[in-house]
Amino acid sequence: MENAIETRNLTVVFPARKGPIKALDGLNLSVQTGQVVGFLGPNGAGKTTAMHVLLGFIRPTSGEARIFGQDARRSIARQRIGYLPEHPDTYRFLTGRELLRMTGRLFDMSGAALGVRIADLLRLTGIDEAADRRVGAYSRGMMQRICLCQALINDPDLVILDEPTGGLDPLGRMEIRKMIADLRGCGKTVFFSSHELSEVETVCDHAIVLNRGRILAEGPIASLAGPGESLEKYFIRVVTAASRPERMAEQPGESS
Ligand SMILES: Nc1ncnc2c1ncn2[C@@H]1O[C@H](COP(=O)(O)OP(=O)(O)OP(=O)(O)O)[C@@H](O)[C@H]1O
Ligand SMILES: [Mg+2]
Repeated sequence: MENAIETRNLTVVFPARKGPIKALDGLNLSVQTGQVVGFLGPNGAGKTTAMHVLLGFIRPTSGEARIFGQDARRSIARQRIGYLPEHPDTYRFLTGRELLRMTGRLFDMSGAALGVRIADLLRLTGIDEAADRRVGAYSRGMMQRICLCQALINDPDLVILDEPTGGLDPLGRMEIRKMIADLRGCGKTVFFSSHELSEVETVCDHAIVLNRGRILAEGPIASLAGPGESLEKYFIRVVTAASRPERMAEQPGESS
């Protein structure tokens, strides 16, 4: 089956006054269709940049990115994606329900079918009681939830979530975990970044650890960490080791 995400030698260099910043450095990503993949990495590793390339927001400096086999720069590649940004924000003068109705219309949805879809999403994300309040009056976590509804309105095949549980209370985190599990149950592909590694451990099939724009480690969740080691401990171990190259050379087994 075609991979949901595929990048080849993807490099993104941002110009900056003190010299160019290489945010992605020959990144080769593969995300199989139907998998739930956690995209991990320290702050500044390049996770959001990689997502922005996949979404066609920024053009790669070199290399290529494909979504279900289509070049990510082509708008057709985006039709099957739902996206939750790192800092979600939206039209604050609309109520939650109006916002979702408007978003649905952008995808040619309408009438009773759209009403049912909106009601389902509002219930699933636990925001139904606030649906008729203006989004501008939402708390941070409520904004996160309504933007997640927006991302899912068109029943996308690939869901890209940039830190979906940031700002959510424990109940909200649990609801997101459940939504991700439900998406997997429907055969969807979920690619999400997170610093909550216990969460990643619970919900993902596979994890990719990014560091300085390159893949440091990847594999099935069950086989990444050592025996009795949590994903968080594993993460700290490999990222720390990668910042000490001479030590890595002594212990080659640590990085994969
Ligand atoms: N628009 C930009 N202009 C210049 N540099 C940028 C820009 N966007 C990102 N960068 C730089 O690219 C690198 C990767 O940033 P990115 O936001 O992709 O990291 P991240 O892995 O998402 O981090 P975090 O976990 O903090 O969200 C950082 O060094 C960042 O400063
Ligand atoms: Mg980020």
